[in-house]
Amino acid sequence: MKLAILGSGFISRFYAESLVAQRRKDVVTMVYSRTEANAKKFADDYNIPHYTTSIHEAAAHPDVDAVIIGLSNDMHLEAVLACAAAGKHVLCTKPLGRNGAEALQMLRAVEAAGVVGGYLEDLCYTPKFLKSLAAIKAGSIGEVTWAKSRETHPGPHSDWFWDKEKSGGGAMIDLGCHCVEISRNFIGKHIRPVEVMCWADTRVHPIDAEDNAIALVKYENGAIGQFEVSWSFRGGMDLRDEVMGTEGTIWANNFLRTGFEMFTTGKGTNYVAEKAESSSGWLFPVGDEVHELGYSHMFTDMFDAIDQKREPAENFYDGYVVNAILDAAYLSAKTKKWEPVQLADWRGKYEQVQKQYQSFDDNYYLIKEEVLPTGEKKRILKHKKTGSIEVRS
Ligand SMILES: NC(=O)c1ccc[n+]([C@@H]2O[C@H](COP(=O)([O-])OP(=O)(O)OC[C@H]3O[C@@H](n4cnc5c(N)ncnc54)[C@H](O)[C@@H]3O)[C@@H](O)[C@H]2O)c1
Repeated sequence: MKLAILGSGFISRFYAESLVAQRRKDVVTMVYSRTEANAKKFADDYNIPHYTTSIHEAAAHPDVDAVIIGLSNDMHLEAVLACAAAGKHVLCTKPLGRNGAEALQMLRAVEAAGVVGGYLEDLCYTPKFLKSLAAIKAGSIGEVTWAKSRETHPGPHSDWFWDKEKSGGGAMIDLGCHCVEISRNFIGKHIRPVEVMCWADTRVHPIDAEDNAIALVKYENGAIGQFEVSWSFRGGMDLRDEVMGTEGTIWANNFLRTGFEMFTTGKGTNYVAEKAESSSGWLFPVGDEVHELGYSHMFTDMFDAIDQKREPAENFYDGYVVNAILDAAYLSAKTKKWEPVQLADWRGKYEQVQKQYQSFDDNYYLIKEEVLPTGEKKRILKHKKTGSIEVRS
């Protein structure tokens, strides 16, 4: 695959690192940046033959099969429309749009152009995520009733993130987009997100947008997706997921505590990990960030999807649903009420199944069974007709 990267900042460098690693056969042939100096430096750093300061030139270049968008949120729509007009497959970083309306416009544009629209939601491709999702799909934890995802750090690294107009919001649009899509995968993408209740506030930074938020996303089967985000968490980047199912539980700590701990007096000036706040004392480095944050599996799925003429696991439709959920969260934070998720285009298919309770015998359901420290076995039962709760040893 011959690739153009639009943008030469933080995420574009992560993407380039991932694409040049491990003897990949896909090559970056073009980079766009606003200034020639930045475009040339990026091209030199990654041995890229072409660079430009025109988005249209990058997208239309004959040496480009697919375009990767790593631009600030306010530039995603313009860049996607340029790629669709040039008939190029387009892979856009998160969040897809600053809101659902922008995302829907992007979805419509790629579908009309007949090109693949890949949503670069890397946290839905981490090794721990992929293993968790496979276990859930195999039924290992039963029906998922509650999926919680948390992303918190001390705040982003560029000015535009802090400008509500340019980014579309604060911590919620920036980090909540990851959490929403993680929970949505675990609960089941075919199950419709129905309504959202959200608290969001500007607690620490002198900005107009929220720097902390918590929300509950209710799905049509009753499952809850919970997200917690912050731009004022101290101590690095905390990425954690907890999934509760009727037959099991998954806890995944993706970044701050991966089982790798290091102490240093501070000698040397080593980079530790994204958003790490210290480079001395006890540290929590990440082995291979590009891999552990999901970029390797993500690009493999994106390029395989283009080759096989199928949708990638994370695509523009997913990006659109995420934006629609976040729109409802923003509204709920204002109204302090559950707000419906407005989906002009819903493609999931789900049939409500009758709840099956575990029978103890013909007359009773078994609610709970436990062995006490005395060795006594207690069973809590509910009578099927009268509803009375009883205990049996
Ligand atoms: N885990 C992830 O998937 C992840 C992580 C970080 C950032 N991102 C996303 O990547 C995108 C870029 O974030 P970043 O961290 O690289 O930011 P950044 O500030 O480091 O880079 C932004 C890039 O966009 C360019 N840019 C900004 N305004 C522009 C304009 N008006 N016209 C043309 N170019 C413009 C900048 O020159 C720069 O090349 C955002 O959408 C962000 O949400 C994703």
